[in-house]
Amino acid sequence: MRAEQLSSGSKAWVRAGTTLSVFVIVIALVVILDPDNLFLWIKAFHIIAVIAWMAGLLYLPRLFIYHFETRPGSESSELFKVMERRLLKIIMNPAMMLTWVLGLYMAWSAFAFQGGWLHAKLLLVVLLTGVHVYYSRAQRAFLRDERPKSQRHWRIMNEAPAVLMIAIVLIVVLKPF
Ligand code: HEM
Repeated sequence: MRAEQLSSGSKAWVRAGTTLSVFVIVIALVVILDPDNLFLWIKAFHIIAVIAWMAGLLYLPRLFIYHFETRPGSESSELFKVMERRLLKIIMNPAMMLTWVLGLYMAWSAFAFQGGWLHAKLLLVVLLTGVHVYYSRAQRAFLRDERPKSQRHWRIMNEAPAVLMIAIVLIVVLKPF
């Protein structure tokens, strides 16, 4: 089981590294080619990165809830550790970084960091990033075979990124102020 996990683990890293490299190369090519609608290209890449980040933010606390029910050291507990680590390192961390880089580029190039909606959005995204950091700490605790907080806590925490995401999307699309 361990040898299989290791080999499928390294394959997962290679696959994820390749996908990420291709995505970054495509972004770099678009920036170098500098099409008239560069801003829309960047916005599309921003939304793709947001989708990947949000998928992880919504799924990781679900994994914590199931992980809670396993016995430390059991096979299922070890499997959850692998799933949580890969989700965080392979998907969520790169997606969060790309979301920030592309979002800040748009905020600077098109809006010069001006606008109430942009400031409100930035505040909410900082909170979302705080949730990400909080989940990362919990992932490391589960890795040490601890069981931080309670299942109820993770059920409630599961709602935080969803609520923030709804507010962020409404603010950026409607720009109410
Ligand atoms: C990480 C920091 C972020 C910054 C600096 C940022 C900034 C921006 C900017 C400047 C735009 C262009 C707005 C326009 O063209 O009207 C944009 C578009 C967008 N952002 Fe972000 N963003 C960030 C994170 C996020 C997050 C976390 C979400 C969702 C949870 C999100 C969702 C969107 C959506 C859906 C659009 C397209 C809006 C439209 O075209 O009407 N962004 N972002």
